Amino acid sequence: MCGIVGYVGYEKATPILLESTKKLEYRGYDSVGMSTIDNGIKILKGAGRIDDVHNRLNFHSLSGNVGISHTRWATHGGVTDHNAHPHTDCNDRIAVVHNGIIENYSELRKELIGKGHKFKSDTDTEIISHLIEDFMNNDKNLREAVIEASKRLQGLFAFLVIKDDDEKIISCKNKCPLVLGMGKTGNFVASDVVSFLNHTNKAVFLDDNEIAEITKDGYQIYDIHGNPINKEINYIDWNPEEAQKSGYEHFMLKEINEQVETIQKAISHDKKTIQKVADMINDAYGIFFVACGTSYHACLSAGYIFSSITKKHVNVFLASEFPNFSHFLTKNTLMIAVSQSGETADVLEAVRVAKEKGVKVISLVNVMGSSLMRMSDFSLVLNAGPEICVLATKSFTSQLALIYLLAYTCAGRYEEGKDKLKEVAEKVKNVLSPENVKKINKLAKKLKNKNDIYLIGRGLSYSTTLEGALKLKEVSYIHAEGLAGGELKHGTLALIEDGMPCIAIAPNNGMKKDILSNAMEIKSRGGYIIGIANEDNEIFDYSIIIPEVEMHPILMIIPIQLLAYYLAVERGCDPDKPRNLAKSVTVK
Ligand code: F6R
Repeated sequence: MCGIVGYVGYEKATPILLESTKKLEYRGYDSVGMSTIDNGIKILKGAGRIDDVHNRLNFHSLSGNVGISHTRWATHGGVTDHNAHPHTDCNDRIAVVHNGIIENYSELRKELIGKGHKFKSDTDTEIISHLIEDFMNNDKNLREAVIEASKRLQGLFAFLVIKDDDEKIISCKNKCPLVLGMGKTGNFVASDVVSFLNHTNKAVFLDDNEIAEITKDGYQIYDIHGNPINKEINYIDWNPEEAQKSGYEHFMLKEINEQVETIQKAISHDKKTIQKVADMINDAYGIFFVACGTSYHACLSAGYIFSSITKKHVNVFLASEFPNFSHFLTKNTLMIAVSQSGETADVLEAVRVAKEKGVKVISLVNVMGSSLMRMSDFSLVLNAGPEICVLATKSFTSQLALIYLLAYTCAGRYEEGKDKLKEVAEKVKNVLSPENVKKINKLAKKLKNKNDIYLIGRGLSYSTTLEGALKLKEVSYIHAEGLAGGELKHGTLALIEDGMPCIAIAPNNGMKKDILSNAMEIKSRGGYIIGIANEDNEIFDYSIIIPEVEMHPILMIIPIQLLAYYLAVERGCDPDKPRNLAKSVTVK
């Protein structure tokens, strides 16, 4: 995780870096730091969120047109001022910011200490600055030293380096994202295009083991042997406006409200493109969906959706567990990797394992140019626009919409699927009606002091309960648990006591009767039943009524997203940046 950004240009670096680093704060917010070249290397850094540290230290007091910046999600070394990036060499002539983990840092640290290097932090990152210094002491120039240092590093990393007497930034990538941005008044290198989208939409994505040098007038990319290479420029069609709050108090609320449009955008691919993926699915022998977190819950839904619409069996695995099952893979297997960021380390690892066995990989991904997209044989973009809030909301419903469309297309019913999805997108407006929002806000006030919330559902609604529980706990810090209704009496019922809130997801379908019976089992033990359903029922103590559609998981999750949001607000939690989390999970 962590966000890194560098700028070299004709303007003062710090205002640009501050704005760009804030755009990356979703990647981690334990500490922040900045370094510029201004008669030597100058650094300001500290533990805390960007605005707080800036108020304390004033990053604008750093001059210079070349700078690098970092927002941290701590791995090695506690959340302290001295562990904040950038990190320097012994003589403070080199500064480094880094995203990732150096796995062999302890042996390299011993080796460097043995050679007389003095360390100032507990981080793995500081190894990089001392290694570069070491190679420079042996007559390498900065770029050559970065190349040699990168050959000694094991693990996942993307890092940026500046040196006191060189008006350039050298960057290096291995398994963590890095992208160059070519602006009118200077050039960028960053973890994500959103950080420089206000300045340019011209981007070049680096691949593993590539080194890039940017100056104020240009850039050059090199392979690990130092040979120059040419790469294609991508024009990013995200609108910088999409990465703003646009009048909403939080990105989470904005992104929940965007779902009428984002569902439509997810299914805007032409028929030929969707048919191509559907043919790959139909031709495959063994289909494996892999993902993490919310994206995994979309995959769990895919299991039910493919079963009911195409009568096709698909395997669904947590990406982190997938390598245990790699012996099932053959050349006819198809992997469908689902990820908002396209940078989740466990997903990328699962794809690597699959590719080694000759498996074809399709990805459903939101971030254009992401590592997953570039590793896949074919990608379908979610088109949800930047998702800035750490919690996944709109990307989840986009994933579901695309999965439904694929299942319908596999069954030879593309048009029918698309029409139904358009209708669902329209109905999102009803779910987000002021009346519903008011009701959900009122419910949040009622539940704000509870310690636990249970969610029950059957069939497809079971995956909705898992996603709902994840939303509730990660942003409100209330313990929440999603359960298949049938599983209740196999243990969890023991936890139900007077006043315990339980959300029953009860769409009008063949399983409604059974889920209502399960809700009754809870109610008769004192539970407080919140129904999310297509019509009210006497069992419900509180109800949120949602329009009836076949693709109910897309609509049923939205009131829970809203409930999670309002619970966070009621409890004084930051909805966009929950504690201990980061959006792009680029470590295993
Ligand atoms: C939850 C959430 C995470 C992500 C997970 C996978 O709100 O955001 O659980 O879903 O880290 O991320 P992606 O989809 O980027 O691979």
